[in-house]
Amino acid sequence: MNMIKKYFLIEVLIFVGVLFMVGCGTKEEKETFSKVDYLVLVNKYSQLPDDWEDKVNLINAKNVWDEDIKIEKETYENYKKLKNELKKDGVVIELDSIYRSVKAQQDLWDSWSKDPEKGIDYVRKYVAVPGYSEHHTGLAIDICLNKDGNLVYDNDEMIADRETFAKIHAKLADYGFILRYLENRDDITGYAYEPWHLRYVGSVEIAKEIMEKDITFEEYLASIKNVKENKAAAKYQIEKALQEKLKLTYGDKVLNSRFNVTKIYSSNEEKDNPELKSLALGKNEVAFEVTYQIQPRDLDVVNELTIPDGEYNDVLEWIVNIRRVGVLKYDDKTNTYSITNFGTGF
Ligand code: DAL
Ligand code: ZN
Repeated sequence: MNMIKKYFLIEVLIFVGVLFMVGCGTKEEKETFSKVDYLVLVNKYSQLPDDWEDKVNLINAKNVWDEDIKIEKETYENYKKLKNELKKDGVVIELDSIYRSVKAQQDLWDSWSKDPEKGIDYVRKYVAVPGYSEHHTGLAIDICLNKDGNLVYDNDEMIADRETFAKIHAKLADYGFILRYLENRDDITGYAYEPWHLRYVGSVEIAKEIMEKDITFEEYLASIKNVKENKAAAKYQIEKALQEKLKLTYGDKVLNSRFNVTKIYSSNEEKDNPELKSLALGKNEVAFEVTYQIQPRDLDVVNELTIPDGEYNDVLEWIVNIRRVGVLKYDDKTNTYSITNFGTGF
């Protein structure tokens, strides 16, 4: 091969490579994270789900030590609101340890085990086995305190500062956070009291229920298995299942998706309601009404859409308002939720 041909071939290969990379980039931009399961359970007996990293939207931030950290996007937004609110009461919280990879958790386990002031018994009380830490989710936050410029990050010192942490814990639920490792509940959570470890659960309603009832996350999850009993949980599961069912993703065909679950019926008592007449709700089933808007990217998409119960509200702005009724079913064998009868019969 002569030199000219060789260089030409190299240039073609580079061009194809660049095209490929651009292509991949575009695809990546288009792909969005399906709604994170903010109620994911990761504890001593429940490992991080295999596909978690594909779904979670981890963003970059800095902790109080100016180290690069990762944190789930919505968790971070709500953390900042919580921090601002607490500042008004004279309490300054800072980010310490947030997302930890399995390797980072292993390093922590190893270094604390070797630390003469801590040791293996301490580690078992306070550190999860790698793969089983809530810190792998990006939804858990270890905070520390900033007292007039002095950082308080030592675990024992923080445990002793009951007054400050009482103020912090009182505000958590307003921003969707719970205190994950409650005092004297190690028999359920598996860990000793950690006033600094906050967990984002994705719903103010759910966080309030957990904090007000003073229950562990494990107890809360056990209580919502039957969605009939708990409307906040049902609402959460409906939104999550709809996201999955309709695959409403940003940057794809449908933009601006937001579900507003306006009614939940947990029994057939509402026989008078014409919309429920055709539904015979079974065990572990609730009926719901949801409204949402979609904003298709272009008019072709508007024309392609077949929306049985939808109406084109303002086609100029390409906003489509949709109102539909469906049934959420909980399968207690597979521990999954699904939507049936969506938008049919009415
Ligand atoms: N400190 C908690 C239990 C963890 O290591 O995940
Ligand atoms: Zn923690």
